[in-house]
Amino acid sequence: MKVIQEWKTLLIPYEQAVEELKVKFKALRNQYREMNEYSPIEFVTGRVKKISSIIEKAERRKIPMDLIEEQMEDIAGIRVMCQFINDIYAVVELMHERSGKDFTVLYEKDYIRYPKESGYKSYHIIIRYPVQTAFGPKEILAEIQIRTLAMNFWATIEHSLNYKYKSHMPEEISERLKTSALAATQLDLEMTEISKEVITAQVLFEEKSNTIRNITDNIQVLFSQGKQKEALDFQKRFDKIKNSDNLFEFELLLADIKNALPKYSLFEKGRLL
Ligand code: GTP
Ligand code: MG
Repeated sequence: MKVIQEWKTLLIPYEQAVEELKVKFKALRNQYREMNEYSPIEFVTGRVKKISSIIEKAERRKIPMDLIEEQMEDIAGIRVMCQFINDIYAVVELMHERSGKDFTVLYEKDYIRYPKESGYKSYHIIIRYPVQTAFGPKEILAEIQIRTLAMNFWATIEHSLNYKYKSHMPEEISERLKTSALAATQLDLEMTEISKEVITAQVLFEEKSNTIRNITDNIQVLFSQGKQKEALDFQKRFDKIKNSDNLFEFELLLADIKNALPKYSLFEKGRLL
């Protein structure tokens, strides 16, 4: 049995790793969006396994307590949710390209091509990840689960029921779960069929909101520089087109506003523009 102090020391690097990995995956998503590109990542969650679950799994898998860091791969867990099945493989590809830089891919399990008996689907990547803590450097293992929103819905429900029934899930419920897993797959396949249209619509929406943000930011700059008249004119033009579906009109307005902005050098008055 580990004492409380030992658990704390053991878990510190895992907590650090989960926080860092969440930041990194969220940054990827935000960078795509800022560049008006489609992001294969919809959202990201992460958790450090609860002590009770670590103890339970160590017993179930006959892992001695002094070997859990090497043998339990999911003490640090990250979940990457995607809209479409193809996005999952795009994220996998991104991770392969990144491997050897800030983390190393150790191995993978493709439960999408080869679903589990339960109906579970997800793509798992086990990585080695170095962290720096107040107590020195440490390399830990982390499990990245990549799945669609439908796969995540199913796995969350199934996990709760598994927790409730332990290994005694009533036959009727596990049958229903298998049927629901098929329905989730059907949903993902249907969504794949319309993915191109969905992606175009989402990219267009993102582009429009980014352009509008640029327009309002720059009108604000004109105001703050005392160019009241120009700012108000642009404001009026914006009000006229604000309900338009034509992105080009917004881009044109933005270009005109940018032209009206005084051309400062990059470090004018010590301020980075
Ligand atoms: P454990 O299942 O945790 O003992 O890990 P393992 O070493 O057998 O690896 P595996 O790839 O089977 O599972 C790793 C993780 O995937 C689990 O901790 C779950 O988060 C998830 N997972 C695997 N199988 C299932 C399943 O049938 N249902 C659900 N909901 N999640 C699963
Ligand atoms: Mg398992």
